[in-house]
Amino acid sequence: MAKDKIFFSCSECGYNTGNWVGKCPGCGAWDTLVEELVKKEQKQASKSLLGDGKAVLLSKITGDDAIRISCGDSELDRILGGGLVAGSAVLIGGDPGIGKSTLLLQSANKIAESRDKPVLYVTAEESARQIKLRAERLGDISNNILILAENSVANILKICHSTELSLIIIDSIQMVYWEEIKSAPGSVAQVRESAAGLVAMSKRLNVPLFIVGHVTKDGAIAGPKVLEHMVDAVLYFEGDQHHSARILRAVKNRFGAVGEIGIYEMASDGLLPINDPSRLFLSSSDYKTEGTAITASIEGTRPFLVEVQALVTTGYAGSAKRRISGADNNRVSMLIAVLEKRCEISMYDQDVFVNVVGGVQLDEPSADLSLIMAIAGSIKNCSLSQRTICLGEVGLGGEIRPVSYIEQRLKEAERLGFDRAIIPIENAKKLKKIKMEVTPVKEVEDALQNLERKL
Ligand code: TYD
Ligand code: MG
Repeated sequence: MAKDKIFFSCSECGYNTGNWVGKCPGCGAWDTLVEELVKKEQKQASKSLLGDGKAVLLSKITGDDAIRISCGDSELDRILGGGLVAGSAVLIGGDPGIGKSTLLLQSANKIAESRDKPVLYVTAEESARQIKLRAERLGDISNNILILAENSVANILKICHSTELSLIIIDSIQMVYWEEIKSAPGSVAQVRESAAGLVAMSKRLNVPLFIVGHVTKDGAIAGPKVLEHMVDAVLYFEGDQHHSARILRAVKNRFGAVGEIGIYEMASDGLLPINDPSRLFLSSSDYKTEGTAITASIEGTRPFLVEVQALVTTGYAGSAKRRISGADNNRVSMLIAVLEKRCEISMYDQDVFVNVVGGVQLDEPSADLSLIMAIAGSIKNCSLSQRTICLGEVGLGGEIRPVSYIEQRLKEAERLGFDRAIIPIENAKKLKKIKMEVTPVKEVEDALQNLERKL
């Protein structure tokens, strides 16, 4: 008879070893190796779950990929590439309290309303009563949702096999377990084997599956990396606890574009999809102050306008502060160095505070010009003329480099009533069909000439 095998695996990175060690050789984390027991029979049971083991001609396979189930939510549908694909597994990760359960309950409600077969919502974290309370906050509840408060994967599979369903939701993968595996729920082996069983079941029954996953303190989905390989799409739900904006981002998608994002606002009655995100990220005030600049960022396929604010005040030489929120610290330091060296603006004794409105993280190099204009504007007490947008990557030599998707970005600005754009000269040469006034710039110095309005 096959013998059970004991090994140790890292709860952070999934590294396996035969002996316990204090420091994980895979990721260097301390005290993360936990004992796992894998039964031989069970390992064999998880093989060949996708078909009958026979090779078939690709041309003879009939695709049901074209069948997309709408989630009744324009943002989620777009991120998924046009709706849920039958039999696909989607993993949603995010910080606690960000709104994963709310998003899935809302989608469950919409899908249940439009389909004949019921939606199964498996809650492994909260009681059925708690789910009911959340559903009451969200408004009308469909008659077609089944709630199952259960932690055992075996029982979940039994119910899924015995009921005809249109969607299965598991909330969350860290709280379900196989009784045969002797490690705690949430451990590497439990997460891996539970996900394998659930994903295989969804493929076999051809029912779409949503899995909620917790994230570690570094922001990655907790559990082995293999969890992300097992599913068809991985979505991250991000946001700032202090802002109501939530961003759902596709980091992997077998049936759509990666990098696609959806924007929601957390309201008192659930998550509202935001179809016009630019309005969310522009500050509401109409008056212009010094030290602000507006740029257009592209996430996935969609441009939206973002406002950058800077405040430069006198500090202490040698210990001047740089406090950046919403942009990369190193990038801003580089831009300050460019201002000092190329434009002869001395900042060694100036404190610099940068803020991106709306809690959005601006990581694109195309935002460089807006950051530099905001900082220089604050030092010089100047502002840009109203309704001006700045785009361009800044190089160490102070040169302004072209950015991608310039026309999409400018069109979005035009749509919101912007009438002037400061853009790299290389981009300006190739522009077509843009009505707004375009100011091409070659170097940072040229761009700073546009800071005119003294306050
Ligand atoms: P939840 O979906 O439980 O988060 P997760 O499953 O990711 O842990 O969301 C919980 C938070 O959202 C909680 O702080 C309350 C808030 N919330 C609202 O603001 N409005 C609502 O309509 C709902 C249902 C929750
Ligand atoms: Mg939850």
